[in-house]
Amino acid sequence: MPTVSVNVARSSENYDIEIGGGTHERVGASLRQAASAHLRRVALVSNKRVFKLYGAAVETSLTQARFSVTTVFIGDGERFKTWRTAEKVLTQVAQAKLERSDAIVALGGGVVGDLAGFVASLYLRGITFVNLPTTLLAQIDSSVGGKTGVNTAHGKNSTGTFHHPRRVLIDTATLRTLSRRDAVAGWCEAIKQGAIGGIELFEMTRNYLRDAGDADNAGGAALSPKSEQESARLSNLLAAHVAFKADIVANDERENIERDDHRSRRILNFGHTVAHALEAVTAYRRFRHGEAVGYGMLAAAEISTRLNLLPETDLQTLRSCIALAGNLPPAADVDTEAVMSRLKFDKKSVGGTLKWVLLKQLGVPQIVDETDVPRHIIKAGIHSSLNASAVPALTS
Ligand code: NAD
Ligand code: GLY
Repeated sequence: MPTVSVNVARSSENYDIEIGGGTHERVGASLRQAASAHLRRVALVSNKRVFKLYGAAVETSLTQARFSVTTVFIGDGERFKTWRTAEKVLTQVAQAKLERSDAIVALGGGVVGDLAGFVASLYLRGITFVNLPTTLLAQIDSSVGGKTGVNTAHGKNSTGTFHHPRRVLIDTATLRTLSRRDAVAGWCEAIKQGAIGGIELFEMTRNYLRDAGDADNAGGAALSPKSEQESARLSNLLAAHVAFKADIVANDERENIERDDHRSRRILNFGHTVAHALEAVTAYRRFRHGEAVGYGMLAAAEISTRLNLLPETDLQTLRSCIALAGNLPPAADVDTEAVMSRLKFDKKSVGGTLKWVLLKQLGVPQIVDETDVPRHIIKAGIHSSLNASAVPALTS
C-alpha cells in the first residue's frame, strides 16, 4: 500500500498519507499510533451523504481503538463552507468537551476537510486533525498541504489557516460512489497537476484515463477498478499525484509571495484564475470547482499558445486529455467580459498585479505578470475556452 510522507518546516509536524482500498478500517489504530497517548475524544466531522456511505466503518474503527466519538454533521455543499458552519462545529466540539490532546477527524470531500481542518486549527489554539478525504479532488489535492478555510462575502477561501493534518488516510474504495460530475471535476484537478508537475505525471494520468475510462462516462468508470491490478494502478496514480503536491509543499509551505519560479506553490493555481472568475460570475451554483478548473486550464493554455510560449501541439494534447476526463457542462453562454471583469479579484494577486500561471510546455509552468499579457489575448483565450466543451473525447 503506497505511503507518501509530507515534510514540512517543523519536522515534528511531518505526516504520512496512506493510500489504498480499505484504509478506513485502520483509522482507529492509525490515530492511536500517530497521536498523543492522552487522546480520548474524537469529533468526527462529515455530511449526511458521506456518513451514510462510510461513517459506520470509520466509527467502528475509532471505537474499537477505544476512542469516544461525537459525530458532527455539516450541510452538503460549498454553500455550507462558511464562518457560520465553523462556529456551529466549534460549539459542538466544545460541548463534547474535547481537550487539547483530542482530535478532529474529517470524513468527506474538500468542503468537509477544509472546514474541519479550519476548526481544528482554531479550537484551543489548535488540536490534532486527521483527514479521510473521499472525493478524487480531496484525495489528490485538498488533503495535502495544510490549507484550511471558509468562504466569506469577500471571496472563496478568503479566510483560513495553515494547519497540517497528523495523518491522512485515502481509501480509494470510496471513489466508486462519486457522482460522474464529481469524478470529472477531480480528474480535471489531476490533469492540472500533470500539466504543471511534469510530462511523466501528465502521461501517467492521460494513459490511465485512456485505459480505464470509457467514452460515455470516462470520469466515473475510471474510478471503479474491476481487479486487484486495476485497483493497484489507481492507488499508484493517486500516490504519484500526492507525492507531486507533497514535494511542492515541502519546497514552499506557506506559498511565499516573493516567489514566482516554476516550483513555487503558486503554480498550483494553473487554471484557477479563470476558474474562480467563472465560478463567481455563475454564483458558485453552476460549475463544480474542478469543472471550472477544466475551463480555466483551457483558457490559460490557449493564452500561453497565443503568447508563443506553448506549442500548438501541446495545447491540442491538453484539450484532448480534458475531453478524456469527461464532458464539462456547457459554458458558451457565459459572458466573456463578465469573466474578465472578475479577474481583478483573484486572491493570488501580489501588489495589485495579477500573476498568470501559464505553460511553456506540458509539465512546465511559467508565472507571467499580467502586464505582459495583452488584454485581447486574455479575452480570446477565455472566449475560446468557454466554447470548447464540445471538444470530442479522443480514444487514442
Ligand atoms: P465537496 O466536498 O463538495 O464534495 C463533492 C460532493 O461529493 C459533495 O456532495 C459530497 O457530499 C459528495 N461526496 C464526497 N465523497 C463522496 C463519495 N465518496 N461518494 C459519493 N459522494 C461523495 O467537493 P470537493 O470537490 O471534494 O472539494 C471542493 C472543495 O475543496 C472546495 O471548497 C475547494 O476550495 C477545496 N479545495 C481546497 C484545497 C486545499 O488545498 N485545501 C485544494 C483544492 C480544493
Ligand atoms: N490548492 C492550492 C494549494 O494547496 O496551494
